Amino acid sequence: RQLVLPRDPSLPPEVFSFIPIIGSAISYGNDPLNFFFKCREKYGDVFTFILFGRKVTVALGAKGNNFVLGGKSTAFSAEEAYTHLTTPVFGKDVVYDVPNEVFMEQKKFVKVGLSTENFRAYVGMIEEEVEEFMKTDGAFLIYQMNDINEWGRFDATDIMAQITILTASRTLQGKEVRENMDKSFSELYNALDGGFTPLNFLFPNLPLESYRQRDEAHKKMSAFYVDIIRKRKESGDDAQDMISALRTQKYRDGRLLPDHEIAHIMIALLMAGQHTSSATGSWALLHLADNRDVQEALYQEQVKYFGNPDGSFRSMTYEELRKLPVLDSVIRETLRVHPPIHSIMRYVRSDVPVPPTLAAPSKDGTYVVPKGHYVLACAAVSQVDPHIWSKPLAWDPTRWSDPEGAAAQAFNTYADENGEKIDYGFGAVSKGTDSPYQPFGAGRHRCIGEQFAYLQLGTVIATVLRRMEIKLDQPVPEHNYHTMITMPKKPRNICYRRRAFD
Ligand code: HEM
Repeated sequence: RQLVLPRDPSLPPEVFSFIPIIGSAISYGNDPLNFFFKCREKYGDVFTFILFGRKVTVALGAKGNNFVLGGKSTAFSAEEAYTHLTTPVFGKDVVYDVPNEVFMEQKKFVKVGLSTENFRAYVGMIEEEVEEFMKTDGAFLIYQMNDINEWGRFDATDIMAQITILTASRTLQGKEVRENMDKSFSELYNALDGGFTPLNFLFPNLPLESYRQRDEAHKKMSAFYVDIIRKRKESGDDAQDMISALRTQKYRDGRLLPDHEIAHIMIALLMAGQHTSSATGSWALLHLADNRDVQEALYQEQVKYFGNPDGSFRSMTYEELRKLPVLDSVIRETLRVHPPIHSIMRYVRSDVPVPPTLAAPSKDGTYVVPKGHYVLACAAVSQVDPHIWSKPLAWDPTRWSDPEGAAAQAFNTYADENGEKIDYGFGAVSKGTDSPYQPFGAGRHRCIGEQFAYLQLGTVIATVLRRMEIKLDQPVPEHNYHTMITMPKKPRNICYRRRAFD
């Protein structure tokens, strides 16, 4: 007979699983949202599940987001949750390989490179890059179609992945990276990316060929960036990009960033922006193809502000791009229904009581998340919570311009405390840790790439739709949760045809 010890009542409820160690990994891995919604019905907003031996305590809803993302970094550690995944890819001495205070300084350095002045230069560069891509790339030869009635087809994510890396390298990453994009760099990128998967997260030390290739690719890519920095130093040439911004930054103790740290921050930025932006762009194009009324509204917005009498378009400025309500709401809504990062994790360094307003075992009791657990916030759940959003799963950008709707009400997007209507501008919602809308996270680890992502996505989507009409011959695909970033499941084809003005 087995002795069953009574469970500590202060521990959050544990999700039942028949399989020891593996626990709920399969249900969570296949469809985390469905798994969390089901668990919430049974256990409430706070519960613990087993993920390959780790104990993961999930905190759902806006209060759950606040608990995890607003937690003290001394108690909830991002570096201990992520370093084994990220350090082999990004490299030493940056991001989660350094104490949090050092990374916070590094984030400030990156912000300098994400300046409005740089952004102003980037809009035209991205337009050019997308135009060029549509003219020359094999999968996307719209200019070669003579008959405007002819429809072609492309895989939404394959095409968006190419456009994203081309436009990010032309702008943030710098001309040397862009010049090598057709050559060695893209191979290195692919090998490195092959080491940034859920498998690498769950099992950091497997003796697999892909792990070896990842390490090899990291060394070469690091050397590639260090070489760029060295050549720039020798020639005195610099550009309006992130490398040049990082070269001038100093730590509080007066130290300049060593070359290898600049190189590793550049790799981290490349990886942070690539799949997140290309996933968002693919979902946005898929929905626009599916919803031709919104597509038409977006096109007419472009015609109204940038259309020439002959049907062609002039370039947008950054300031103009920030003031396009249809384009802005298309991106916001896409990030609500399809946030690229569904789970944000922290390692628990010391016992942390759960606020009773979030969840409690009884009227007088308090749950405690013990040291050694992980905590997990899932904004993807609160972003489609039927208690908050009307028709939560419907992709409907107009909800963002409805002053009575959840979007405006919950986030105070359109009214200040005196009820005055104000516009916080492109991509500027959900700053608080207790918002149910958090595609970019919140708190000290919040994304710093949001403005760049809006700029990049907005310019790409506008430039594509100026040139072509799109439609779907299938429903909008479901989520594929087997990659680090939530992608559309295949098939995810978009049908397109050239617009008449060419
Ligand atoms: C952090 C989402 C694009 C750089 C984050 C976090 C999220 C996120 C959810 C918080 C992670 C956590 O708390 O553990 C997104 C989305 C993007 C995007 C949805 C595009 C649509 C970018 C881009 C860059 C970038 C383009 C770089 C230029 C970063 C950095 C952090 C971050 C440096 C900070 C990590 C930390 O402090 O621990 N992002 N991101 N992101 N992101 Fe983004």
